[in-house]
Amino acid sequence: MVSYKELGLVNTVELVKKAVKGGYAIPAYNFNNMEQLQAIVQACVETKSPVILQVSAGARKYANQTMLRYMAQGAVEYAKELGFNVPIVLHLDHGDSFELCKNCIETGFSSVMIDGSSLPYEENVALTKKVVEFAHSQKDYVTVEGELGVLAGVEDDVSAEHSHYTQPQEVQDFVKKTGVDSLAISIGTSHGRMKFKPEQCTKTADGVLIPPPLRFDILEEIEKRLPGFPIVLHGSSSVPIEYVKIIEKFGGKLSDSVGIPEEQLRKAAKSAVCKINIDSDGRLAMTAMIRKVFSEKPDEFDPRKYLGPARDELKKLYMHKNLEVLGSAGKA
Ligand code: 13P
Repeated sequence: MVSYKELGLVNTVELVKKAVKGGYAIPAYNFNNMEQLQAIVQACVETKSPVILQVSAGARKYANQTMLRYMAQGAVEYAKELGFNVPIVLHLDHGDSFELCKNCIETGFSSVMIDGSSLPYEENVALTKKVVEFAHSQKDYVTVEGELGVLAGVEDDVSAEHSHYTQPQEVQDFVKKTGVDSLAISIGTSHGRMKFKPEQCTKTADGVLIPPPLRFDILEEIEKRLPGFPIVLHGSSSVPIEYVKIIEKFGGKLSDSVGIPEEQLRKAAKSAVCKINIDSDGRLAMTAMIRKVFSEKPDEFDPRKYLGPARDELKKLYMHKNLEVLGSAGKA
């Protein structure tokens, strides 16, 4: 049994309280390797932003749970070494069982998500409550995120073909019965780089897809029913067209890519949305730079020579998010 406090991590209680009050969102960036983690820490130290490091079940399998624990601890020490001790959370993204959540809690995670959103309502309540009871009864309180409503798209082991929006009339009952610390909702975002079907979008003259707006009316309705309660947005990559173009220029094929426009995320961050999940944009940034190096320098075979530029681009991307989109810069 390892407590997150021994690793220098924090849970989300104080961070989300401050974020809801302050009208900004904390970045929740997914990682599964060293370069991603270095870029996240560098960007968050430089912008003085708190950060939630997210690991999906798939990432945990990929990186190994022991490696991850020490990487998170390494992130805390690295931030100090860079000169600013930003608050760092280690969070399980889309936990799908009590056992997985329990295991993460026992190996140093400070926060977990139990995603029962695909279950019938009462089963989602029961599973979420069970995780909350376990997490909250630890010597060091572990925070729990639940979910109502289903996001479409694919993310590691999580995939759903059809989405449905969160029903505002369920949220109060869910929060009261489960005791969750935050709630992920579905208002039109989805996982991956194709967030909408082309037929749901309009097109600019040069063929760039413009997605339909998020359902801010549902968000407002939820805020009315749960005043000041921390809300989470998954599936919030913007899928920058610049990266898609670089990837396609150097041999990739990513047709019909479309994300959530930044101004909509900015608007969401000013509301009760206090945690915004971003994974795909980082994947795109890395892939774009790696493809560019491979194509421009076909004789290059030192991983540092392509992972290095990918890491630098990631850092730029995360700094931009913290400064211009989420408003978390300067809030650490
Ligand atoms: P994106 O695919 O939009 O980056 O969403 C990631 C996410 O929600 C992780 O939980």
